[in-house]
Amino acid sequence: MTSFPTRRLRRLRGTPALRRLAAEHHLVPSQLVLPVFVKEGITSSQPIASMPGVSQHPLDAIADVVDEAAAAGIGGIMIFGVPAVRDAVGSGATDPDGILNRAIAVAARAAAGRLTVQADLCLDEFTDHGHCGLLAADGSVDNDATLEVYAEMGVAQARAGADVLGLSGMMDGQVAAVRAGLDAAGFAHVAILAYSAKYASAFYGPFRDAVESTLQGDRRTYQMDPANAREGVEEALVDIAEGADVVMVKPAMPYLDVLARVSDRSNVPVWAYQVSGEYAMIEHAAAAGLIDRERAIGESLLGIRRAGADVILTYWAVEVAHWLRAGKELA
Ligand code: PBG
Repeated sequence: MTSFPTRRLRRLRGTPALRRLAAEHHLVPSQLVLPVFVKEGITSSQPIASMPGVSQHPLDAIADVVDEAAAAGIGGIMIFGVPAVRDAVGSGATDPDGILNRAIAVAARAAAGRLTVQADLCLDEFTDHGHCGLLAADGSVDNDATLEVYAEMGVAQARAGADVLGLSGMMDGQVAAVRAGLDAAGFAHVAILAYSAKYASAFYGPFRDAVESTLQGDRRTYQMDPANAREGVEEALVDIAEGADVVMVKPAMPYLDVLARVSDRSNVPVWAYQVSGEYAMIEHAAAAGLIDRERAIGESLLGIRRAGADVILTYWAVEVAHWLRAGKELA
């Protein structure tokens, strides 16, 4: 006599309607943030070879980028600056006329409250050596000297009109330093997004192209070791104690376990950054006919949500927002 299963988990998978009803996780456009590259001195948008579908934009194009993002209903844009000139101390980062600060101002004006304007707060786009901080005489990255520049950079970005500052430099004490600088300058209302568990990752490869930066050496003395998960939780807890309004895990897909652990321990929102290499892998695999592009994108985003991200920074933000508005299933 055959015994029949009494527990049939297939029951709720039988039709699209049942699957919709049973879905534990969803994504809405406001949970997506689009990274935007603004390059000094160009007159038209330039495609980035390693990131098909992503461009560097001139200052003049930013209002259109903001309009498109607002029309899609996404939660915000995260702006990165690509300066024409770099120096050892990253002067362009604190200069109110620097490309990033000018782009923030243009974006904030164009956004007019329809979405949030966020800015990358880090020195690597502005230094000629490509490190996220100032170098000491022995060539090491000088943590505490860098904090002073970050605080000044934060004030410049707040003054330009940024709503959220994305602290991505992985210096110890950066959240406290930037918070103190903002509060002292009358910007107590500006929020801090801490890239808390940011790993020394090969998946930032295409980003170096996007910001045209070359790095001398590597970032392993300040970005996290991919071997460590518990330490990622501690980074987030330290940042929360220093006043972070949001904590982030980056990259996303190779670190979903870290995301889940941080999300369990955090009482502030937890975001994830689906980085340039994650984007490029899916785009190139799809272009080679190896995977279904839209399903792979949808599945990757749902996985990041499922692991515990409240909001996702992704280069597909606008496209996916349109899918969601049209009622498309993500996976
Ligand atoms: C630092 C910063 C980086 C990224 C976001 N902020 C580069 C880095 O740390 O090497 C990478 C994002 C991506 O790869 O998409 N300015």
